[in-house]
Amino acid sequence: MEAIILLGGPGAGKGTLAEVLKKQTDYLHVSTGDMLRAATQAGTSVGTEAKSYMDSGQLVPDAVILRIIEERISEENSNSHFMFDGFPRTIEQAEGLDRFFKKQGGAINHVFNLVVDREALLARLTGRRVCRSCGAVYHMANKPPKKSGICDIDGGELYQRADDSEATILNRLEVYKKQTAPLIAFYQQKGLLREINAGGSPAETQTLVLNVLNA
Ligand code: AP5
Repeated sequence: MEAIILLGGPGAGKGTLAEVLKKQTDYLHVSTGDMLRAATQAGTSVGTEAKSYMDSGQLVPDAVILRIIEERISEENSNSHFMFDGFPRTIEQAEGLDRFFKKQGGAINHVFNLVVDREALLARLTGRRVCRSCGAVYHMANKPPKKSGICDIDGGELYQRADDSEATILNRLEVYKKQTAPLIAFYQQKGLLREINAGGSPAETQTLVLNVLNA
């Protein structure tokens, strides 16, 4: 069992990068944000508990996240490669992952820290639109759909995520700084951190990450 971790502030481009990497590598994309949104939509008990935290930009409790991650990992065989997107998000979650991997004989290969300045993060998040049916991600300026408000892939309606309102974005940035940014030092000490300048185009970010993976 092996893993890479995509770390970075809200809107840094973790999901966009993961969509490409999962086609070019054998890493399975595991996004806790996507899993929680699916649970919310399905009305499960995890989804109901997570919704109020997500809508206000707070983190969902560590115990809930560690439970859904363990369940997800257990669905795959012991030779699987995981690409964690948006997980871990606290030191507690990172320690939980370490404990789980130790038990399973797994290893984390790289932690990619996608570095993007605050102005660009704000612009990426406020302009993001998502397809209601297939989940494809667009951006009003950087990656607009051919027809306004309509998904190019399946014609689904494009919507703005509830947590992409300006007030909630500011809260998410604060939460990132306080609770998630300490992971940078945590993984640096373990020799796993790879700093990636993710302020350029998606293709540029992808090349920087693939260079490390292929080295
Ligand atoms: P989550 O869904 O993980 O949100 P996030 O980390 O804030 O990240 P985003 O999905 O907003 O952004 P992204 O980095 O994937 O950027 P994207 O590629 O879409 O989490 C949501 C909530 O769930 C949390 O607030 C929390 O409540 C809860 N949660 C989730 N995981 C949790 C955990 N482990 N613990 C506790 N709670 C948890 O790109 C953004 C936009 O920019 C898009 O429009 C895209 O087209 C555009 N774009 C991307 N790359 C570029 C580029 N290079 N140039 C120009 N535009 C770009």
